Formats: sequence, C-alpha cells, structure tokens
Amino acid sequence: MKLSVIGTGYLGAVHAVCMAHLGHEVVAYDTDAAKIAMLSAGSSPFYEPGFDELLGAVLATGRLRFTQSADEAVSGASVHFVCVGTPQLAGSDAADVRYVDSAFKAVVASADCDGLIVGKSTVPVGTAQRLAAELAEASSPHALEIAWNPEFLREGKAIEDTLRPDRLVFGVTSEHAEKTLRQVYGSLIDAGTPHLTSDLATSELVKVAANAFLATKISFINAMAEVCDVVDADVVLLSRALGYDDRIGSRFLNAGLGFGGGCLPKDIRAFSARAGELGASDALRFLHEVDKINVRQREKAVAAARSIVGGDFLGKSVAVLGAAFKPNSDDVRDSPALNVAAAMHLMGADVRVHDPKAIANARKRFPTLSYFDTAEDACRNADLTVLATEWDEYLSIEPASFRSVVRVPRLLDTRNVLDRQYWSDAGWQLFGLGRGGPTA
Ligand SMILES: NC(=O)c1ccc[n+]([C@@H]2O[C@H](COP(=O)([O-])OP(=O)(O)OC[C@H]3O[C@@H](n4cnc5c(N)ncnc54)[C@H](O)[C@@H]3O)[C@@H](O)[C@H]2O)c1
Repeated sequence: MKLSVIGTGYLGAVHAVCMAHLGHEVVAYDTDAAKIAMLSAGSSPFYEPGFDELLGAVLATGRLRFTQSADEAVSGASVHFVCVGTPQLAGSDAADVRYVDSAFKAVVASADCDGLIVGKSTVPVGTAQRLAAELAEASSPHALEIAWNPEFLREGKAIEDTLRPDRLVFGVTSEHAEKTLRQVYGSLIDAGTPHLTSDLATSELVKVAANAFLATKISFINAMAEVCDVVDADVVLLSRALGYDDRIGSRFLNAGLGFGGGCLPKDIRAFSARAGELGASDALRFLHEVDKINVRQREKAVAAARSIVGGDFLGKSVAVLGAAFKPNSDDVRDSPALNVAAAMHLMGADVRVHDPKAIANARKRFPTLSYFDTAEDACRNADLTVLATEWDEYLSIEPASFRSVVRVPRLLDTRNVLDRQYWSDAGWQLFGLGRGGPTA
C-alpha cells in the first residue's frame, strides 16, 4: 500500500521505517528541514536501538522516502498517518493540538485521491470527532475519512513495539476504515497481534488511560517509598513482595526518581485538563496527586543529596550519571535526571553530568551544566555520585576501581537498582530513596 507519514519525530520516523519494512511504500513528511535531511541520508536525528540499521535497510529497498513537501508525501497515498507532537500548552496543563490540526489541514489540502487519515498522536478525547466534523465541512473533491490508531511504543524498544505490538486499536466510523487498517497491519494481524475496533473516542481514551494507569502505578510505589522513609523500611523489598502478587505484578513498581519524558507527564496533565473541560474533573482528580508525588520524588532526591554532602552544595562537586529520562533513549524531555542535576546546580553544586547518548540534547536544554564523555571523567573528585538514569553501563560499574576516581565514595542511587551489599563491600556509602539509612 502507499502510505504517507506526517511528522518524523520519535513516533513518526519509527512508524515510517517499520511500515516500509513491512512492505508498504512510504513517503514521510516533516516541517523540520534538518530532520528530513538527516533521515534521507540514512542517519537518525535521535538515538533508538536498532533504528539506524533498519532505516538504512529500508532506504536501500527504495520503499521509503523523506520529504519536506506535504504534497509529495500525500500525493497518491491511500492512508496518511498523522504522527506530529502534542506537547503541553505553555501556561496550561492542556495539550497543544495545533500541530495535529495543521497536519490534518495539510493532508486535506494535498490529497489527490480518496484516502484514510489516521491519527496516531496522543490527543484529548474528542479531537478525532472534531476533525471528522471539520472534514465533513471541507470541500475536498476526494472521499477522505478519519480514523484513530493510538501508538503504544516505548522509546528504547520502539522498533520491537511497532513490529510486534501487544495490541492494535482501530478507532473507526466505517467498515471501510477498519478494513483499510486491517490491510495496513495485515502481516502483524496474521502473526497473531490482538486487535480491537472501537469508536473514535474510545480509541483516543485507550492511550491516555494506559498512560494514566502506568503513571499511577509508579506514583503509588513512590508514595510507599515516602512512608518507608518515615518508618525506616525498605521500599525495594516491599515492592518485590508486592510484585509477586500476580494481581499486582512487578512491572512499573520500582520506587525511585519517577517518570518523565515526552509522554507520561504531559499526557496525565492533558487528560485531567480535558476531563475538566468535559465536566468530569472529579473522576481524574487523583491524577493531580499522581503528578505531585512524581514531582516530589525529584525534590526528595535533591534534598537527600544536599543532606548527604552536609547540608550545603556550595563548594561541592556532584557527579550525575544519566541525563535521559530513561535508559536506551537520548530523550531529555521532562527528564527527572536533568531536573535534579539542574536543581543542584542552581543551589551551588558543581554538577558534572554523563550520559551514554543524551549529552547533546541535555546540553541544548541546560547549557550551564558541565558534561563529560565518560562516567569516570564526570565522577573525578566527586563529593557525591548520583545515579539518575539506570543505563546498563552504570549497573556494570566496578565499585572497587571506581572508588579511587571520586573524592568521597558516596552514591545516591535514585533508581534503587544497584546491589547495595556489593557497593558497600567495596567501601562505598550507598543511599537510596525509600530505603531507610545508608548502607555503611
Ligand atoms: N515518543 C513516544 O514514545 C511516543 C509514544 C506514543 C505516542 N506518542 C505520541 O506521538 C506524538 C508524537 O510524539 P514524538 O515523541 O514523536 O514527538 P516529536 O516532537 O519527537 O516529533 C514530532 C514531529 O512532528 C513534526 N511536526 C510538527 N508539526 C508538523 C506538521 N504540521 N507537519 C509535519 N510535521 C510536523 C515536528 O517537526 C517533529 O519532528 C505525540 O502525540 C506523542 O504523545 C509518542
């Protein structure tokens, strides 16, 4: 099938590459000239494991092209995937849907045949219905229809999640739209991927409800961490014991610095804001608390770090391991790690940051922090080391040899992932969040 993809950020670029890999002919369009130039040249504007290899392979087949012309992407395609950003509106919790609106307008203006416009961006419930109404009023000579197909990929596992999704959701208003989406994803459906068909509003809600649930689970265990701190209990053991209950499960139940990134924080805020607009704010009031608990974890990490270095950051050197919002990504949008690093810097610490992939993005957001190419350089003569993103590289640090790098062997493990005994046996004092006092 001939597909267009509008927006080639983390979602759109991965979707375009994967759809071409599945055998479709894809032309992907973005307004960002630099991004299009990089992707056309086979190099990725972001870090995503496996992406570069797959990009190179599908470009070589000739089934994928990138363009800065909406006309070129949309012309001749029968399905148009809208993958543009929906960031948080400045000064509000609501989502900014202006990019979705302009992408839809661009598709309608450029369409030269009948087609299905499929939203993949995460949007406030009701957006698809509004766009469908606008489409009905637009005087396009072609039969265009709207569907919603929310995306559940995780950065760091985006290729795997797109080629082997745990479910597909088709929000449609006609049999034709459903049939078209079944055709697009035919090989995944044949491979047994569960797929559900719903109305437009339900499909929009599936995405935000999933993110609200995941955020709630993380904030739940972080609330337990706060209680553990008060009574000197260990939230890691608590979480492990809870996780064995298969009604609860252990995933998304790791207490620590909390969630961040370009999705969860803004999505739960936008969901609450939308519920308010719809007169259903009571139903989602708990999400404000989920958000507050999450933000509090960052503040607690900063307070813990300050207390560990003696109550004042002035004159203290703090190494921060990790800048990305999670491992295997270079995405620093609303990154808890960078947030903590910046707060300590503002309070007077000499903050030295390392990240295996996210330094360039971090530097753009926080140019005043010091960045280093290796964890060892960042940690040199540190009074405190803060593990802020749980990259594998940090989990395999050898504490005995690292001890000679730092000035004081003290480590705040904000992700509660290091083996405390192993590190304390090597002479380190280890601190966590929600784990009672230090190890030594
Ligand atoms: N990143 C994820 O892991 C993920 C997962 C699931 C859903 N989502 C959702 O997908 C959407 C996109 O997220 P992202 O992380 O890829 O964002 P992003 O900021 O990385 O990419 C958005 C892209 O859209 C482009 N764009 C904006 N307006 C445009 C227009 N009118 N025409 C063409 N291109 C335009 C931008 O230049 C940018 O390259 C959001 O709604 C997000 O919530 C993201």
